[in-house]
Amino acid sequence: MKIQLIIGSTRPGRVGPQIADWLVANLPTQKLTEYEIVDITDYNLPLLDEPIHPAMNQYTKAHTKAWSQKIKEADGYIFLTPEYNASFPAALKNAIDYLYHEWTDKPTMIASYGVRGGQGASTHLRDVVELLKMRPTGLSPAFTITRDMSGEDGKIKNISEAFEPYLAMLKEAGDELLSIGVVPEAVIA
Ligand SMILES: Cc1cc2nc3c(=O)[nH]c(=O)nc-3n(C[C@H](O)[C@H](O)[C@H](O)COP(=O)(O)O)c2cc1C
Repeated sequence: MKIQLIIGSTRPGRVGPQIADWLVANLPTQKLTEYEIVDITDYNLPLLDEPIHPAMNQYTKAHTKAWSQKIKEADGYIFLTPEYNASFPAALKNAIDYLYHEWTDKPTMIASYGVRGGQGASTHLRDVVELLKMRPTGLSPAFTITRDMSGEDGKIKNISEAFEPYLAMLKEAGDELLSIGVVPEAVIA
């Protein structure tokens, strides 16, 4: 089972990749799970410039085709989102809006961070994934990041110690994500 962890922030100096690395190092790994970090900055997506609704599957731009190809590779996703002005970043919304069928029915976990855990971002993103008929976990890890937790480089100081209290919750949410992806044997038979 392949799970892509999509980093929702794109700004220079962002903390997102550091948290993504911590997540991958601490997520449950049963059932031959493979995690892949996906950085939307690698796909150079402009503001949505496809003329036809993505549900029609008639992509015209090379960047859309490359983004679709990457997202199609996964069986499920973790959206890692910061909170910007009470919601999730516009760049993440744009990247989601580019595609449609790629998201349908896929197990999904939302992990957020911000001054109060990024709850606004998490709630708004849940509305979006539900509309896209994704299958979100009930548990959504939310990491509180205060200013005193960051060093001069903007990164979280000693993240393994700072995030230690979240380990149990992350395991529970991760197990839930993987269990959503499992097709019951009765259905296979
Ligand atoms: C434009 C902007 C708006 C922000 N708005 C909020 C906010 O509404 N609530 C919050 O908890 N944190 C807010 N923050 C703080 C971010 O959650 C925090 O800086 C986080 O590290 C950003 O993620 P990033 O470093 O991956 O970009 C904001 C940060 C930026 C850059």
